[in-house]
Amino acid sequence: AQRPIIIQGPMPIEAEKIVQRLDKVKEEKSGSFVFYKGTLDKYPVIVALTGKGMENTAAATAVAIEKYNPIAIINEGTSGGHDPNLNVSDIVLGKRVTNIGSLKTENMDTNQGIDPTKWIPMDLMASKGSAGEDPNAENIRYYEGDKDLLAAANAVKDTYTLGKVVEGTIGSADVWNNEVDRIKWFHTKYGTSVEEMEGAAAAQIAKDYDVPFLGIRVLSNNKTNGGKYSPDTAAANQDYVYEVVKKYISTL
Ligand code: 5AD
Repeated sequence: AQRPIIIQGPMPIEAEKIVQRLDKVKEEKSGSFVFYKGTLDKYPVIVALTGKGMENTAAATAVAIEKYNPIAIINEGTSGGHDPNLNVSDIVLGKRVTNIGSLKTENMDTNQGIDPTKWIPMDLMASKGSAGEDPNAENIRYYEGDKDLLAAANAVKDTYTLGKVVEGTIGSADVWNNEVDRIKWFHTKYGTSVEEMEGAAAAQIAKDYDVPFLGIRVLSNNKTNGGKYSPDTAAANQDYVYEVVKKYISTL
């Protein structure tokens, strides 16, 4: 049988539009996760409604890989801009995805306070030993976007007319940052283009199983340039992802 392509969306507004565009859709549930199994150009495509956040996404990714043996996974949805050159409605293709919630603090004694600007990126995948003690764990771990998925995405860039489509770095954590100086800190230190709450969790599990992965995120807001929240961007991103999947299928 053909191995399906999985498209993950955290919220209903980030999944329903693309489900509507598939043929022969059947719904399957696993825990709180909903998998919409359908076809696109007769090729099997499964849209996974994962729920928000790193934990839901990691679990939904593992369940989907075990159940459906996908050929590739795309994690898509909305995001907040870290780069002032990106506007609401622009799309970032995750050339790299990284966990921006994995950090080690400085050593400070009682009454010395807390200083997030001194926090150190922590790589939990660096070794099997204690990440708190291992100097090799003081490192940013990046997950690379799959080359063939990126090529398919770049090939259909022109179908997207609501903004630009650029390659960049997606940062993920169960945090919504509204402090512009903190956003700048991530942008400078990690090179983040946008932040969201899922991509790095899906990328980590996809890597564990050697499944090609790409994050595709539209900006629904950007604190760094006053870009106001627009939920309509979620639907626009799905129309673009539809074109990416169609292109990718044509190369299989
Ligand atoms: N920060 C964090 N998550 C964001 N999302 C959209 N914008 C942001 C932002 N500025 C996405 C997350 C999550 C939901 C809250 O929306 O991925 O699913």
